[in-house]
Amino acid sequence: YGTQAINGKGHLSIGGVDTTDLVKEFGTPLYVYDTALIKEKINAFKNAFRAFDNLEWQVAYASKAFSTIAMIQLIDEQGLSLDVVSGGELFTALKAGLSPERIHFHGNNKSADELALALDAKIGAVIVDNFFELELLEKMCSERNQAIDILLRVTPGVEAHTHEFIMTGQDDSKFGFNLDDGMAERAVKQAMTSDHLNLKGIHSHIGSQIFETDGFARSIQVMIHHADAWRREFGFHLEVLNVGGGFGIKYTESDQPLPIRNYIETIVQTTRKECARYQLSMPAIWVEPGRSIVGESGTTLYTAGASKTIPGIRKYLSVDGGMSDNIRPSLYQAKYDAICANKANEITDTEMTLAGKCCESGDILIKDAFLPESCTSGDLIAVFSTGAYGYSMASHYNRIPNAAVVFIENGEVSLAVRRESFDDLIRNDLPIKKLSRR
Ligand code: LLP
Repeated sequence: YGTQAINGKGHLSIGGVDTTDLVKEFGTPLYVYDTALIKEKINAFKNAFRAFDNLEWQVAYASKAFSTIAMIQLIDEQGLSLDVVSGGELFTALKAGLSPERIHFHGNNKSADELALALDAKIGAVIVDNFFELELLEKMCSERNQAIDILLRVTPGVEAHTHEFIMTGQDDSKFGFNLDDGMAERAVKQAMTSDHLNLKGIHSHIGSQIFETDGFARSIQVMIHHADAWRREFGFHLEVLNVGGGFGIKYTESDQPLPIRNYIETIVQTTRKECARYQLSMPAIWVEPGRSIVGESGTTLYTAGASKTIPGIRKYLSVDGGMSDNIRPSLYQAKYDAICANKANEITDTEMTLAGKCCESGDILIKDAFLPESCTSGDLIAVFSTGAYGYSMASHYNRIPNAAVVFIENGEVSLAVRRESFDDLIRNDLPIKKLSRR
């Protein structure tokens, strides 16, 4: 992936930096981001859109995939917009200095406090998910005498072929206004009567880690069909069509992701075709990639420790992290590839199960990793494509401190998140006496 290579010592290097040097300085587990690769992915989106004339578009990085101050600053520097889904992500974006008008706020249960933070900052758009939010936002805006641009999240009834837990566009979903039961229509009408909410358009997100373009095409057909009906019935004007994120990436050899260009071409061409069919003017196209921007750029480095061989069954090799820094294998049966980073030239002929260190039998990172026979305690293990939903879904299970994050580009290393200490873990704990006195 990206700038990864095997150097003269037979070690994995990233951005020209030897991974064994990285761990000497920063320890393990360590999340290592190749920022050149992040920029390459961002450029793939930009170039795909720039290939079309007379098109308005926005790429909003979905910060749930990986959000830290440095990451948001990189997004800012690259001129992208940002999708946030909580007060915490919004706060991080504002602290990173991103202009508020480039921020889009998502979520199916935004609190009044979170919306107040968004209104105070005057962010670019709120993607309204439900009637509760529509009414709350209207009331808050009218009290403040403030206007805000909104999109309505609709559920197009399209099932993307992906894991059930990360599938979101089908009818039975907690997200958005359903299209086929009239709820979306009611929401559009209601938003159009508001003096404070400027309804710019609609949004859908059909799922994540999607490897084909048809789901996007189908959801666009459904959305434009409805947009046309609403235009004829009550004068709705579709200025923005946001088709969400979900573009698939490569975790293992068996994943064959499409070039970004293919998704964007399908999205733009389908929108143009459907708009022409209904004689609608072409809306601005917004997309919200998360995983496809950061996933492949992240590698997690671990130190191998204990091992256990069950003759005729399997060999376990344990590492100094696991589900606390990457919950995806236990949560979604997600598959990853790994190598022994300090023996990157040796033949990988021995099957091992890479186990995490959490007290949980299911804390297995890779069930069938092929590693050099000599790979053992003290060796360095690199797990690839951990840049999305790794750090961002990390937990403190077993009171394991969160790992550090480094960014690498052209041989330069910068620490993006300091490793947590044990003191960080107990920072907000109170002794029992204070607790009982409140
Ligand atoms: N937009 C919306 C409204 C979303 O809900 C999501 C992801 C995205 C954009 C970005 O999707 P991406 O391009 O990253 O696929 N934790 C799961 C993924 C959950 C995705 C949730 N929504 C995982 O680790 O696979």
